[in-house]
Amino acid sequence: MSAQYDAIAADYKRTKESPLRRYVEVCSFFRLLGDIRGKALLDLACGEGFYTRQLKNAGARDVLGVDISAEMIALAVEEEERAPLGVRYACFDVAQLELEESFDLVTATYLLHYSASQAELGEMCRRIAAHLKPGGRLVCINENPMQAASDYAGYVQYGFNKSVDLPRVDGSPISYTMVSGRKMIRFNAYFYSLECYETALKAAGFKDIQWHDLQLDPVGINECGAEYFREYLDNPPIAILECSL
Ligand SMILES: C[S@@+](CC[C@H](N)C(=O)[O-])C[C@H]1O[C@@H](n2cnc3c(N)ncnc32)[C@H](O)[C@@H]1O
Repeated sequence: MSAQYDAIAADYKRTKESPLRRYVEVCSFFRLLGDIRGKALLDLACGEGFYTRQLKNAGARDVLGVDISAEMIALAVEEEERAPLGVRYACFDVAQLELEESFDLVTATYLLHYSASQAELGEMCRRIAAHLKPGGRLVCINENPMQAASDYAGYVQYGFNKSVDLPRVDGSPISYTMVSGRKMIRFNAYFYSLECYETALKAAGFKDIQWHDLQLDPVGINECGAEYFREYLDNPPIAILECSL
């Protein structure tokens, strides 16, 4: 898995410039997070720190970003050195995470669906729970498990494509192709059903599991027009997951 993002680290970073990221993803994530001022926060699958930096800027007291890809972490550290915010970064596989600290809040934007098996998904959930304080909260941006396999279409105008071989079962690879500047990048995630996610989360001790719809920032409507976002929001490839211990 590390090799997958090691090879595309800089190109993936560029995809964050898309209006979908700025006006749907970021808006949905931060609206749900609410006030994070003063919180100790662990940002898993932090990549090059796109959300990690914003979480610190939103007032989190202490933020640790963790990613399995050394190349992603190198980009995050480079940015921290260029414009220091006091964010810490470390390179770990979440399925083997063992830190000697615990957090009020864990965020994981695009992590759980990289589990290559249900056993690994269960292990990731257990490791996340083990790093949360009692009553702590987990907020994720994740593959949308409610999306039918026949609806994996209609994103070409947004510069990406998502596909899966049929029949889709738990653990089926999902292939993404994405435009980054003048290049195409490819990566794979895995499909898991709603039941599979909820079983893994509950077994790790999580409760109050909720899947939230995406939200559109009104600034995006002014800039791109509501119609631009319609097909994406009518058929969301991702969903926001929230649960707590
Ligand atoms: C799609 S990127 C998202 C990066 C960042 N969260 C963002 O939204 O910009 C997915 C990230 O998950 C990381 N990742 C995948 N499996 C992981 C694992 N087992 N442990 C830690 N990071 C992992 C990848 O290296 C990659 O940086």
